[in-house]
Amino acid sequence: MIRFIEDANEKRRISREILESLTEWFEVEASREQYIKESADQPFWASVDGDVTEGFLCLKETGRETMELAVMGVRKECHRKGVGRRLFAAAKDYASMKGYEFIQVKTVRSGMYEDYDITNEFYKSLGFKELEVFPEYWDEANPCQIYVMSLKSAVGTIATRHSYRGRFLQESVPEKDLMTIAKAGIDAPSGCNKQTTDVIIVNDPEILAKVKEQLDPPVAQTAPAMIVVLTQRINAYRDRCFAIQDYSAAIENMLLAIVELGYQSCWYEGHITDVDRICDKIAAVLNVPEGYEVVCILPVGKAEEDFHAPSKRPVSERVRFNSWT
Ligand SMILES: Cc1cc2nc3c(=O)[nH]c(=O)nc-3n(C[C@H](O)[C@H](O)[C@H](O)COP(=O)(O)O)c2cc1C
Repeated sequence: MIRFIEDANEKRRISREILESLTEWFEVEASREQYIKESADQPFWASVDGDVTEGFLCLKETGRETMELAVMGVRKECHRKGVGRRLFAAAKDYASMKGYEFIQVKTVRSGMYEDYDITNEFYKSLGFKELEVFPEYWDEANPCQIYVMSLKSAVGTIATRHSYRGRFLQESVPEKDLMTIAKAGIDAPSGCNKQTTDVIIVNDPEILAKVKEQLDPPVAQTAPAMIVVLTQRINAYRDRCFAIQDYSAAIENMLLAIVELGYQSCWYEGHITDVDRICDKIAAVLNVPEGYEVVCILPVGKAEEDFHAPSKRPVSERVRFNSWT
């Protein structure tokens, strides 16, 4: 099981226990002590099996857009059991959710020592790409290989999008980002290309406050901006109306763009389209003309609180090849 560790003493205890068991990689006492000391202030994950701590991983911010895999250690007897891979998956998910664009990691270049060759292969198997070798970054006997991984890919963003219902940081969202998000919605497919979805970006503080007043019980009260999704229930052909499918595709595109740009959101549709018809009250505030219906609001902002993926039924239960059985 992967655990996110918050207590500084526990972090120091775990990192010491693991690093002192891995002297092939962490031979120099001074640098080992440095890793242990720094780990106390870093995002930290441990892999635990019963009473045994199998390994740990720490991240460190090295730039506004970049996290570094600062240190990782897995007990030798737990190698080749997927522990490192699971630790890295948790850390990558965290860095993506926090809006970082890259993860880097440094190690001794391949071709120097057998143990480090294994480490290089492991990083490459996780998806890291060689960025550059700095021959004298540490010393001549240990040329430093820097690997990098982009956290922004469509599939990666899909995996890290989760509904966020916590508080938002009080930072305004630049209009160009709001436009990018809205454009992602407008770019979605629509039945017979009828383009039945429109959006209103709400970032004027007074209008935003009026929209929030309608949300009873209150949700998304700290969001610095909102995207209000409108639909026109017109038929694509004969009596077939695809308006719901059209706006659903647009909403998902916008949620992905929101996450990719480092913001968070939640698809609020049930809340505003219930019998109390909050959606109609929002439509009145925004002067929405007849023929258009408000169906959803998407708050946009940076997350102030940590959050986690909800549990979902396993893929093996929901995805099949070729037939049901
Ligand atoms: C059609 C639709 C309506 C939704 N309405 C609401 C809502 O009114 N309030 C809310 O908190 N979440 C709402 N959600 C978000 C879901 O609760 C959420 O997607 C689900 O719990 C799965 O979590 P995830 O988005 O983190 O994967 C809605 C989602 C969809 C697709």
